[in-house]
Amino acid sequence: MRKEQGMLHIHKLHQKYGPIVQVSPDEISITDLPIVKKIYMNDNYPKEFFNCESNTTRVLNIKKGFYSQFGNFSNRNLFSTGDSKEHINKKKPLQKIYSKTFVLKHSGFLTQKINKLVNKLITLKNKNVDVYSLFGSLAMDVVTGYEFGFENSSDFLTIQDFQEKNLEYKNEIFDSFRDSSSLWFWVCMVPQLYSYVAIWSGKNKTMKKGRSWIWNKINEVAACMSIEDLKKQESTMTVIFDKYNRDLARIGSELADHTLAGADTTQTTLTYIMWQLSRPANATWKKKLHNEILETFPTNKKTNYVIIDDYNKLDKEMPVMNAIIKENFRLHAAIPGSERRFVPNGDGLKVAGYNIKPGTVVSTQPYSLHRADVFGEEIDAFKPERWLQEINETENEYKKRLQEFERHMMTFGQGNRMCLGMHLAVTEIKACVASIFGHSELISYHISPEWCPLVDTTNKAVQMGYGTKFVDKTFDRLAYHRLSDVEKMRMADSYTTRPLYDECWMTI
Ligand code: HEM
Repeated sequence: MRKEQGMLHIHKLHQKYGPIVQVSPDEISITDLPIVKKIYMNDNYPKEFFNCESNTTRVLNIKKGFYSQFGNFSNRNLFSTGDSKEHINKKKPLQKIYSKTFVLKHSGFLTQKINKLVNKLITLKNKNVDVYSLFGSLAMDVVTGYEFGFENSSDFLTIQDFQEKNLEYKNEIFDSFRDSSSLWFWVCMVPQLYSYVAIWSGKNKTMKKGRSWIWNKINEVAACMSIEDLKKQESTMTVIFDKYNRDLARIGSELADHTLAGADTTQTTLTYIMWQLSRPANATWKKKLHNEILETFPTNKKTNYVIIDDYNKLDKEMPVMNAIIKENFRLHAAIPGSERRFVPNGDGLKVAGYNIKPGTVVSTQPYSLHRADVFGEEIDAFKPERWLQEINETENEYKKRLQEFERHMMTFGQGNRMCLGMHLAVTEIKACVASIFGHSELISYHISPEWCPLVDTTNKAVQMGYGTKFVDKTFDRLAYHRLSDVEKMRMADSYTTRPLYDECWMTI
């Protein structure tokens, strides 16, 4: 169970003191848009600080910072690279695999995986299904295809059951990755205690399972890399294999990072979309979405499967779908926490009349930016209509309002260090939503009454963190059972978020 409260605390400080808040002696949290653009886009502030002697390049000391923890197998990767120039050199060769052109060209791979998920939902009709784990499997099966080659993708969607009579879902690999990320507080804030906490909580043992799984996969695929046929099928592995001098620890660090970055985030996003659309208060949105999907795509008359005949339509012809997904990205951004950068060597950063000195950490948390006044009323509520044209609004006014919304969105980060897998994630999410909510049988999926007898019928906002009504499920199952779905779907307060209790059970 994760009990951090940092993000909510920083958000409250912004509400009280405005867009610039000093959160620790050497960290400033910023939501002032021009400064945010300067840090992330115009000046591309680094993730690591090299303190240089003035007028020379001699490095006196290095401040490693938050991202250095994301290395794997004792090696840094794209995400954890501190220096901005080194980062650009690493990123360039990888961009093709994750470009929209590549994702659309290989949409058949996505269709195949998503159809497997739809099939699973159909076969599990009338049973309780943990959709959080189901989407985790989809996300893992897709991202491993991009890392290791489509032929070598994992197949959790086939091998897992997703329904358990006692509503307890276990998967050693996923649990292991969850255990690693649940210790981020210690890694980031109190690194000197990290290894003791890992041993004390027993997580040092479970964490090894996920790491070995991914390490074995890397070795398995690397063993075939001399076969020319495999090389023809582009993947992250084939791009970096020779570039990283066939050094498996370096290659492994990159692949493991992408796999984890791509799986958890997509899983959390899909879970919140499915839950929001299954709430009684959002029934009209579900119906509108269903109709829009049927108007856009043909369906297989026998199976009722949606045939996504043209992936371009997912972006261009589906205003309702886009409004729902954007609102979910705003409210349930899978990485809502502070994206820390360092003020680089030089003149410092001018903020509100103060000069912030080089080496200071400056950060913006998407959670706060996504709750800016521009988005309108009831900021914590799920209201897709924010993203649609209002009755009295001209085309031009609507366009301008949307531009202003987009300037405040940071779901995938901003600037050079933005998410590498964004096009893959967005396309996968949209195709999956179309396939589930366009299917006439799956549309009746709803929150499982066995998991949650108390479904909130209002549009009550889901909150961040464990709050005052916190129930430890492990110790008080009865009290947990009595919580409403809104309480059960609270978002964990950390750099990345997810449903606080790591589950979301649905049924037809
Ligand atoms: C809904 C899904 C996703 C969300 C919300 C998301 C969000 C983000 C964000 C906010 C960042 C920047 C973080 C920071 O600067 O602190 C990031 C970076 C990154 N993401 Fe994603 N991500 C998603 C899916 C994926 C997928 C599918 C991949 C697959 C490879 C991926 C790979 C990466 C990588 C490699 C980086 C580091 C980029 C760099 O430093 O150049 N992400 N992501």
